[in-house]
Amino acid sequence: MQTTSQHGMWSSRLAFILAASGSAVGLGNIWRFPYLTSDNGGGAFVLLYLGCIALCGLPVLIAEIMMGREGRKSPVNAIITLAKESNRSRAWAGIGWIGMVAGVLILSFYSVVAGWTLHYAFLYAAQLFGGAGIEDPAATFNELLGNVTELTFWHAVFMVLTVGVVALGVEKGLERAVKFLMPALFIMLLILAGYGATTGHLGEAAAFLFQPDFSKINANVVLSAMGQAFFSLSLGMCAMMTYGAYLPQNVSIPRVAVSVALADTGVALLAGLAIFPIVIQYLGAPTGGGPGLIFTSLPSAFNQMGAIFGLIFFALLSVAAWTSSISLLEPATAFIVESTKMSRKAAATSMAIFTWFVGLASVLSLNHWSHVRILGFAIMDFIELLANDFLLPLGGLLIAIFTGWMLNDRVVRSQVEGEPALVITVWKWLLRVVAPLLIAIVMGHGIMTKLG
Ligand code: PFF
Repeated sequence: MQTTSQHGMWSSRLAFILAASGSAVGLGNIWRFPYLTSDNGGGAFVLLYLGCIALCGLPVLIAEIMMGREGRKSPVNAIITLAKESNRSRAWAGIGWIGMVAGVLILSFYSVVAGWTLHYAFLYAAQLFGGAGIEDPAATFNELLGNVTELTFWHAVFMVLTVGVVALGVEKGLERAVKFLMPALFIMLLILAGYGATTGHLGEAAAFLFQPDFSKINANVVLSAMGQAFFSLSLGMCAMMTYGAYLPQNVSIPRVAVSVALADTGVALLAGLAIFPIVIQYLGAPTGGGPGLIFTSLPSAFNQMGAIFGLIFFALLSVAAWTSSISLLEPATAFIVESTKMSRKAAATSMAIFTWFVGLASVLSLNHWSHVRILGFAIMDFIELLANDFLLPLGGLLIAIFTGWMLNDRVVRSQVEGEPALVITVWKWLLRVVAPLLIAIVMGHGIMTKLG
């Protein structure tokens, strides 16, 4: 068993928690969770989402961190090591390949959306210095989506920010960035949640989030909730496995996993409690809105609240996206460094350039190629659906089966030494039976309804 990684190590338990929560907390919590909740009828969706986190997300999160820490390399090579230790086929390394493909696909559109948030943060900052601001939010958003140059520019800026951190390595890049950015993120979120509380609509927002209307549940809603659970916890594409490879040996995996899951879920709910009161106050009932929800609804509110709130909100989103995108780029970067003679800087830069090009398909699908459909979906929506609702759960399913059934028991035990027996037993059976069954049923059903 190796105790360190060639790529570097987190300096402490806290550094890992910050980095892994930084990966988990992102656009998924502050952009995607509110609009999915709003599109899918509120409480029922939230309940399903929480169920997926507890029954599938947390067990798979523990498994991913464990696989990373045992293998101590990038996902493909870590799994090859684990398969060897357990006398299993090298083909299991396919999990790492699926992860890298999912990573490129996700980062490609993630960076485009993060580009929107940078653009908005910039607009509000400019307004504070006398700029025009956003008078007609719907028109501003539509103009942005139609402007290829602007979209491509901000997509590039965000990619540069991402490479800038990853190229510097685990300690000097990733760890330093999250130590500074995560507290900033938390402070900004508290300011907004505090404002939400002063609107007097906190109760309605909470009712919307927590009172389930079961008539809203159907196969699609369940699939979205499952996809969102994986996306939000950064699971199924080996990002957490990669972060686990840099985790010191003496840290308890179940404990850090619970901290990360709580931080991630807490931020999603807090974001909901910050955003929905504002939406209710200024715009009425929080139903529908789709991916444009926060870009069209909230700016009307910020016009009345003041540009500083707009700046804080979109800076918060940009920071959240940044600490996530570095975890999307790190697995492939580590893999290239291990497999070639390339330096980390060159590896990260080439992966980012490649992903930036893939992202242009999403950029164009918002305007010139908006008529192009794949299985009935616009390109960007298709990539998001393919990656989030299928590749991530598929990766999660394989990780659960591999760790639950294939991995040598001695290896598993060495990674969870000293943990209470009950915790291990519950985790094992969730991982072996409950998670794979749930994921398979939800995904099978989803494939039939999406393709049928
Ligand atoms: N968890 C991130 C979010 O909620 O925005 C997105 C993400 C990051 C997904 C890293 C997957 C991943 F590997």
